[in-house]
Amino acid sequence: MLIKEPLKIKNTLFNNRIVMPPMASEKTENGRITEGHHHYYDKRCGSGHIGLVVTEHMYIMPQGQATPGQIYIGDDACIEGLRSLTDVIHRGGTKCIAQINHAGYKSPAALTGMEPVGPSAVEARLKNGDIVLPHELSADEIKEITAAFAAAAKRAKAAGYDGVEIHGAHGYLLCQFYSPLSNKRCDAYGGSLENRIRFHLEVIAAVREAVGEDFIVAIRMGGCDYTEGGSTIADCVEACRLFEQAGIDLLDLSGGHCSYQPVGKAAPYFEDMSSAVKAAVSVPVLLTGGIVDAETAERLLRENACDLVGIGRALLKDPHWPETHIYK
Ligand SMILES: Cc1cc2nc3c(=O)[nH]c(=O)nc-3n(C[C@H](O)[C@H](O)[C@H](O)COP(=O)(O)O)c2cc1C
Repeated sequence: MLIKEPLKIKNTLFNNRIVMPPMASEKTENGRITEGHHHYYDKRCGSGHIGLVVTEHMYIMPQGQATPGQIYIGDDACIEGLRSLTDVIHRGGTKCIAQINHAGYKSPAALTGMEPVGPSAVEARLKNGDIVLPHELSADEIKEITAAFAAAAKRAKAAGYDGVEIHGAHGYLLCQFYSPLSNKRCDAYGGSLENRIRFHLEVIAAVREAVGEDFIVAIRMGGCDYTEGGSTIADCVEACRLFEQAGIDLLDLSGGHCSYQPVGKAAPYFEDMSSAVKAAVSVPVLLTGGIVDAETAERLLRENACDLVGIGRALLKDPHWPETHIYK
């Protein structure tokens, strides 16, 4: 089976093509790792039958926090807890990548005590129906956030992770810059696709500088909004080509403002986007979205839609999904 084949990125060998994608577990105490996290990840990775886990999104600075139970990676005190988590995940041979995030205007003021920020001061409707009017980030503020991404990546490396994933999907800050629905800027960070991914490219460069050449740097790209006037698959293909040129090692594809499950699309979601990106780049592509069985995973690998397959909610439901579906 193709799904059982190992894959090497840089010096890191994944045992197979099965990926547990980032799924916020809300198990922290004051932003720190708890026994609950150890148990949650060990239950799924203990057997070593998952090649890679991308751990749930962590906030890089207080301004960018998304939810109360989210993991914090914005200070050095987080390293000890994260080290205990990477030790648990590595025990069975599974590799791990840390997803780092700034939620932009999706950081609730009631949680952070700060004004939500975004690319443009235009009203946005949140999932709960609330309307938010973000503060438009200045070029200096963008630089501060870029530095916070780099510092977070350095901490992930110090904690024993095999790589870091920059969160650019699901309507969070980088996705807000990428999508013409939320980015109305007239400066170097708005307008053309090159301008709308300038922030991403600056973050990639700063993160690479912080972690060195051997460490995996991935990006989760909210490649398409699947909405009139939003980002398109063609935008995503071009952005991914530029990310590859900028030194990205792994492209993890998901949705933009439509989040991880576009309305009205049949599973597997994002196969159209993933196939188009895979044909345009040579770095590995990870596809996640409604995949629940071995046959679909095999077909996607065989048809060159992706190199790695993310199994999300199916793994939440059945922590032993690799054993029940692949290693029977
Ligand atoms: C409870 C839950 C939490 C999630 N948290 C994150 C997250 O922290 N970061 C992220 O990029 N995606 C997150 N996602 C999206 C998943 O990574 C994945 O893309 C999504 O579940 C679709 O894949 P699936 O159909 O295999 O579940 C989350 C999804 C769920 C269900």
